[in-house]
Formats: sequence, C-alpha cells, structure tokens
Amino acid sequence: MFKATVICLSDKGYRGERDDKSSQVIINILEKNNYKVVKNILLPDDYYLLKHTLAEICDAGEADLILTTGGTGFSKRDITPEATLEVIEKNVPGIPEAIRAHSMLITKRAMLSRAVAGIRSDTLIVNLPGSPKAVKESLEYIISTLHHGLKILTGKATECADDRNKNK
Ligand code: MTE
Repeated sequence: MFKATVICLSDKGYRGERDDKSSQVIINILEKNNYKVVKNILLPDDYYLLKHTLAEICDAGEADLILTTGGTGFSKRDITPEATLEVIEKNVPGIPEAIRAHSMLITKRAMLSRAVAGIRSDTLIVNLPGSPKAVKESLEYIISTLHHGLKILTGKATECADDRNKNK
C-alpha cells in the first residue's frame, strides 16, 4: 500500500472563505485505489511555503506520492508548478502531458493548466488543477499508471516486464 499526501493550494481556502472540496475528491479516489492518505495539508498560494513543505515531506520519506491541487493557472498568485520544479530532481513530463491530452477531450481550457510532475528522492509529486471537476477528470485517468511508476520508484518492481499485464 503506497502512502500519499494531498496538498491543496488556495488563498481563499486557507483564509476559510472557501471549502476545500478538491482534496476530498482526491482522497476518495486514492482510497478507492488502495492508497493510505497520511496527510492532507491546506496552504495559501505561497511559493516558499510550498517549496519547503514539498522538500520536507520528500526528504523525510513521509509519502510515496504527493498530489497537489490548485495554483496551476495564470493568476498572479499561481505558483504551484514553479515551487514543484524548484524541488524536484527528475522531471516527469509524461504525466502532465497525459492529463492535458485526456482533459483536452473534455474542455479546451485544460491547456491553461501549467501543471508539472517530478521525482525528489523516493517521492513522486504530481500537480493537479484546482477544481473538483478537473481533479476527478485528471486523477481518474492517471491513477492506474501511477501505481506502476511508484512500484519502480520504490523498488517494489524492478522492470516494466514485472507488470506486463497491467500496463493499460
Ligand atoms: N482540466 C480538466 N480535466 N477539467 C477542467 O475543467 N479546467 C482548466 C484547467 N484544467 C480544467 C482542467 C482551467 S479552467 C484552468 S484555469 C486550469 O486548469 C488551471 O486551474 P488551477 O489554477 O485551478 O490549477
């Protein structure tokens, strides 16, 4: 069972002016897919705070997977991709590419998400957009494939062939 942490980036959520519905959508999908959600953190759209939080979780080995939601758009306060790029050691462009390709079949506004993904130490970080709808559409599409990537990352599988029949 992989450990996951969910981080919601929202100034309004942090100030208590908006409910964080997206984290709950993520948690439901994770639990349905057999992940143990160890932490759910609500942060303002603050570059240094996010950078520090991501690095701390990865370096402590607290989670195999960190999913962020929000802060990937064009607003002046949207800094999630920049903070993520600052802490990752390896870029994983295929995940946001897949999310955007799939999401573009639903809404052309998917091209407005600047989300990124990458690896720091033994932890995979994936940015998701902010709305509950976008989160559901994005995460449900990638979740089965994340599992295989995490198995390789954490040494539970050594080769793609180990999972030959599960690579849909
Ligand atoms: N992706 C999916 N699958 N569905 C959506 O409705 N909304 C888009 C995009 N990605 C959307 C989506 C919109 S409208 C924006 S502005 C960007 O995500 C960025 O969202 P964020 O700033 O909340 O992270």
